[in-house]
Amino acid sequence: MDSITTGPAHKAPADSRVTLAHIMSEHDTNLYGTIHGGVIMKLIDDAAAAAAGRHADGPAVTVSVDRMSFLAPVHAGDLLSAHASVEYAGRTSMDVGVRVTAERWNASGPTVEVVTAHLTFVAIDEDRSPRPVPELRPVTPEDHQRYLRAVRRRSLRTEQRTAAG
Ligand SMILES: CC(C)(COP(=O)(O)OP(=O)(O)OC[C@H]1O[C@@H](n2cnc3c(N)ncnc32)[C@H](O)[C@@H]1OP(=O)(O)O)[C@@H](O)C(=O)NCCC(=O)NCCS
Repeated sequence: MDSITTGPAHKAPADSRVTLAHIMSEHDTNLYGTIHGGVIMKLIDDAAAAAAGRHADGPAVTVSVDRMSFLAPVHAGDLLSAHASVEYAGRTSMDVGVRVTAERWNASGPTVEVVTAHLTFVAIDEDRSPRPVPELRPVTPEDHQRYLRAVRRRSLRTEQRTAAG
């Protein structure tokens, strides 16, 4: 397991923001000729894990996916970029937002937003037990908006988990 370092007591979203980019291959297509959703989900999980790991100064595991919206199809040859940032940090968990954009290989048109997703990660120690993470301090107006939306998602999630028993 990766080593755990002791970092600062608080961080800004910009301190852990990550972009992962990948060119989609024809091997990743489904029966309809577009890119399989699972391939994009892997890229999203990887980018979110990298942002969570940066914020937590060590390993963090996916514990839930709140929402994943596929907004437009992705094709072989498209350059996908997954932009992940930590939007809220609890005691040991982190809410990470991911926005995926596509640059079409055969068109000079604008970059298109193709997926948005929100995931929760938990920082773990050597025994795979939850461990505390730095506080998240929003800085920009956008950071503050994302923070407030993450707080709402978190309370909704807690209600749903309680209702589900
Ligand atoms: C992540 C894991 C260690 C958490 O253990 P746990 O006993 O549920 O931990 P706790 O109940 O103490 O909760 C720890 C934190 O996770 C949050 N959490 C737990 N389950 C959650 C869920 N389903 N959704 C969102 N948050 C959750 C809690 O709210 C708490 O957050 P906080 O400390 O910020 O308040 C454990 O669930 C696990 O190992 N899961 C498997 C992870 C995995 O293998 N992922 C796939 C590969 S990366």
